[in-house]
Amino acid sequence: MHIDRRAFLATLGSAAVVEAMSSEARADALEHYLIAQLDKAPAAKAPDVRSGAGALFGGPSPSGVRLPLAALAPMPDQPTLVDFIRLRGTPGIGNHILQSAGDALKKGEPEETVLACLLHDFVLNLMKTDHGWWGAQMMEPYVSEKVSWAIRHHQALRFYADPSVGYEYPELYVRIFGKDYVPAPYIKAAYEYARKHKWYMDARMITVHDLYAFQPGVKVSIEPFLDIIGRHFRQPKEGLGFDGSPVAHMWRTLNYPDNPL
Ligand SMILES: [Fe+2]
Ligand SMILES: [Fe+2]
Repeated sequence: MHIDRRAFLATLGSAAVVEAMSSEARADALEHYLIAQLDKAPAAKAPDVRSGAGALFGGPSPSGVRLPLAALAPMPDQPTLVDFIRLRGTPGIGNHILQSAGDALKKGEPEETVLACLLHDFVLNLMKTDHGWWGAQMMEPYVSEKVSWAIRHHQALRFYADPSVGYEYPELYVRIFGKDYVPAPYIKAAYEYARKHKWYMDARMITVHDLYAFQPGVKVSIEPFLDIIGRHFRQPKEGLGFDGSPVAHMWRTLNYPDNPL
């Protein structure tokens, strides 16, 4: 065991007290000190960055892996959704959302479900905590109410099985959250609300396609989704971030992630 000599001596009192102790007494004191240290829990390492920080800002993956940060490509003056996915999306999240939309397309889902899958986790580049709510809000001005509703609620539905569509509690979450994890009351409440909603299945299908969207080495191009984006995502002509919408600042934050204030 490593002994912090200063900390040990400080437990004994002033220098004069230590000086006056017999070597026997010092040895006893040291033994007591070491036993007390064994009872202490190991100090938790302070994180370098909070787990909720978005991936573009150096936030870690759920397993704690952090991408090395690199210089970013400049963005066009009027950036589109596709520019953001290509130039401000980190590779892991990009692969995941494209694989998920690819799975939805392959299985013949309606175009709005394909779009919801494509958009469902994009916000993880900006913010991870409560990403369903953040993601829905970010997309809300540009998609139908149903698509943003589905994005908002996929976060809570992930934790609850629905065997009617083959959705079981993901093994991945046992690894991330631990085997006895109980979702917070607000997540349970959101699930119970969504379960009874007319758009429940729209959110549920995001979680279903999510299961098929963690395949290492599988690359899906954005090309097959360009027409669907064109039909169902209202791209502002000024560019995302410059259209004066209530969420424009979210897009600008991704556009300029290195701005200090
Ligand atoms: Fe998600
Ligand atoms: Fe996902």
